Amino acid sequence: MDKVINSYDHIASIYDRLGKLVFGGSLIKPQIEILNSYKGKDILIVGAGTGNVLKTFEANQFNSIDLFDISKPMLNEFNDLVISKSSNINYFLKDGRTGDLNKHYDLIMFPFFLDHFDEQEIREILVSYRSEIPTFDDLAIIDFTNPLKFKHRILAKTMLLFFRITTGHTLNRIPDIFRVSDEILKGLKKKDKYYYDSFIKSSVYSRL
Ligand SMILES: C[S@@+](CC[C@H](N)C(=O)[O-])C[C@H]1O[C@@H](n2cnc3c(N)ncnc32)[C@H](O)[C@@H]1O
Repeated sequence: MDKVINSYDHIASIYDRLGKLVFGGSLIKPQIEILNSYKGKDILIVGAGTGNVLKTFEANQFNSIDLFDISKPMLNEFNDLVISKSSNINYFLKDGRTGDLNKHYDLIMFPFFLDHFDEQEIREILVSYRSEIPTFDDLAIIDFTNPLKFKHRILAKTMLLFFRITTGHTLNRIPDIFRVSDEILKGLKKKDKYYYDSFIKSSVYSRL
């Protein structure tokens, strides 16, 4: 596996505000909707960023939440949240590309994480999480779809340019995330939902 290339370190303090400015609540809404269905459960969020989504919840609404991210400044932002002080909410500075977990989760969530990688790497990440010893009951992907509308294409180009300059992002297109996830997680039950005029999609794959 290649070395980690993306670094959100320089934009950690503005990331949430910027996302809200451009997309309103559409980045966070699908994540809140999904988490609402997993109260009392064990959850892992990969590429968790500042953990902003947890602002809506109380720690005792979940059995546990683990968050993985590679950016220390993102962790520092998370540490400012009240919920970060709870013993059942744990943030790990960890490369989230491998699913070598020593815990089973009711839900593993990838919110705007897989779009950093090309289709081959997304395939490897999902295969690793899907491993023979199942690490999850349900797996949720929330991310961008291939921009078909003109306004979404312009937005995608602007976003990618911004992230190339600020984070070292290397892709110049949005990968076909959901085509790969449908291929790798074939056979699991699936529930799709669309947001932001279909530019954002959530897919929840269930083993049960
Ligand atoms: C676009 S942000 C999304 C943050 C958050 N999920 C949200 O929806 O607001 C992507 C996050 O993935 C993290 N990230 C990028 N590559 C990673 C890796 N290999 N392992 C873990 N986290 C990674 C970045 O540091 C960043 O915080």
